[in-house]
Amino acid sequence: MNTDNFYVTTPIYYVNDKPHIGHAYTTVLADVLARYYRSLGVDTFFLTGTDEHGQKVEKAAARRNMPPKQHCDETVVRFQELWKRLGVTNDRFIRTTDEFHKQVVREVLQDLYDRGEIYKKEYSGWYCVGDERFYTEKDLVDGKCPECGREVSEIKEWNYFFRMGKYREWLIDYIQTHPDFIQPAFRANETLGFLKKELGDLCISRPKSRLAWGIELPFDPEYVCYVWFDALINYISGVGYRRNDAEFEKWWPASYHLIGKDILTTHSVYWPTMLKAIGLPMPKTIFAHGWWLTGNTKMSKSLGNVINPMDMIDKCGVDAFRYFLLAEMFPGNDANFTEAAFVSRYNSDLANDLGNLLSRVLKMTLRANEGVIQPPAELEADDLELNAEVDRAVGAMEESLRAMKCDQGLAAVMNAVRAANRYLEKTAPWTLAKKGEVARLNTVLHTAADALRRVSVLLAPVMPGKMAELRAALGYSGDDLFNATIAGLKTGQCDLAGRVMKDTPGLFPRIQLEDAEKPAVPAAAPAPEKSSKPVNVVETIAIGDFARVRLMTARVLEAEKVQGADKLLKLQLDAGGERRQIVSGIAGWYTPESLIGKTIVIVANLKPAVIRGVESNGMLLAAKAGKELRLITTDGEIDSGAEVG
Ligand code: MSP
Repeated sequence: MNTDNFYVTTPIYYVNDKPHIGHAYTTVLADVLARYYRSLGVDTFFLTGTDEHGQKVEKAAARRNMPPKQHCDETVVRFQELWKRLGVTNDRFIRTTDEFHKQVVREVLQDLYDRGEIYKKEYSGWYCVGDERFYTEKDLVDGKCPECGREVSEIKEWNYFFRMGKYREWLIDYIQTHPDFIQPAFRANETLGFLKKELGDLCISRPKSRLAWGIELPFDPEYVCYVWFDALINYISGVGYRRNDAEFEKWWPASYHLIGKDILTTHSVYWPTMLKAIGLPMPKTIFAHGWWLTGNTKMSKSLGNVINPMDMIDKCGVDAFRYFLLAEMFPGNDANFTEAAFVSRYNSDLANDLGNLLSRVLKMTLRANEGVIQPPAELEADDLELNAEVDRAVGAMEESLRAMKCDQGLAAVMNAVRAANRYLEKTAPWTLAKKGEVARLNTVLHTAADALRRVSVLLAPVMPGKMAELRAALGYSGDDLFNATIAGLKTGQCDLAGRVMKDTPGLFPRIQLEDAEKPAVPAAAPAPEKSSKPVNVVETIAIGDFARVRLMTARVLEAEKVQGADKLLKLQLDAGGERRQIVSGIAGWYTPESLIGKTIVIVANLKPAVIRGVESNGMLLAAKAGKELRLITTDGEIDSGAEVG
């Protein structure tokens, strides 16, 4: 059983779909984790692939007048090419039409059938072709699919069922006693909420008369296997289950199943009960991330706002795109994609902070020492302080990735980069050069170059190409461009002295907003008069700037004082089914009890912060006049999670 190795999976994507930013995000996140654990020296396996059976594929192939497998062979390439382009280092790409996978599915089905875990009965239900799922009458919303809102059709037929219901008590207990099993914790609560209702058995077959494109049931050739039952098994068939015991022992149970929040139930209820029936241990963590929205709206083909990763890569390069995805999303929450947010983060973090640091160190070293990095003399307080800041980033990055808070790890690295820029301003190597203080100059340049060296290793899992360029500028070549590891960083050894820095064009040239997204300037805006007295002008913003702020209603579930901080209250909120914690300085105006049940307005996409050691995930809105403060609430009842704007 896998105790020390790292095995990460993505969902297997519907082969029919055009890859979009949501698919790219999960896969890049898995790739960064895989690269990071490899860099720590941990044995790692990364599995991704495609989900190729089911009605949607069958229909799409029929529209194209070709056999479904041929349709899959042609469309799977879109994912494979995108992963190549995005530098994704998966160890295997599984397709559910792979013969070995189909064989494992058949064996699992036969085994469960032989042991009475699968049985046949007549069934009637409502079927959504889009989601390939059955719903009961109660599940429907206005007679439509509760997940996607599309039409459903009533179906009555004999089918095979997996005895999922009998595992309900066991699953509740397992979730409650394994806090890491479903993450973030509010998703575990969501699953427990789902399990409060009765848990029915799972229909795992489709009669061939209705759907032929699937894996035939080994015990009844009139039926094929339900696509989700087939697809979930990829997580074990992909690492040798029933084919290669040594391989399977090495990787199972998985360290992480990364999924989006919309496929939580299939992963946190169907899959664990299937594994339990099969007799296998549970994955260590099922992590459900939020959704990427465009301009705060759900992406959909009909709205024409789906972000195509290939377009973004063409515009801004692979590494900047990977960096943005990871830096911008706090993994449990939704995130908003706009080109303005992208450009602003790129220009501030990458062009101004990191790119600038390299170009300053490079220029000074070329000018002072013809590019040769000299060994340092005795270190002074400023040097030690910068080194300590970079050490902190090394620790923070590891801690954050282990806690699946990649955005916070990257923020710590960027803090170190900014500290290095401040260090150069303070130590002023250009003045040292003028004054001929050679030993000190060399120490400063070495210390700054060493910060860059360590940052290049820390950021390599996120921006492998750009960090190799950065290392080339620092005088590395060949394997040294790619092979430096975080395990190596921790030894504290530095091999910079004597290397010759290479003149390199800007690592991250500044980019401009697309014209369409530039803030509108009123045509006849009068030029400000230089001599006029200062007036109380409120700077105007474009509607796009406002759209970046995501305001929503939230209901206060619990409130308590923060220990040791008189002014602070810690609130637990329900924000549209998502649980959030916000720390706010309102204790002078509100008692905790008076807040419970109120519907307030919060800024939902504020970067999480730690206030007096307590994590705060958003900000609530209040009006303040003099000493008075009043929370912004709604004029009458409205659901939590409602958009405000
Ligand atoms: N085939 C199933 C998964 C089977 S896994 C055994 C499936 N495929 S999918 O292609 O529709 O979706 C794959 C993933 O993309 C899901 O995790 C889903 O949450 C994610 N996303 C789809 N749209 C998304 C966003 N806009 N943002 C982030 N991820 C989203 O479901």
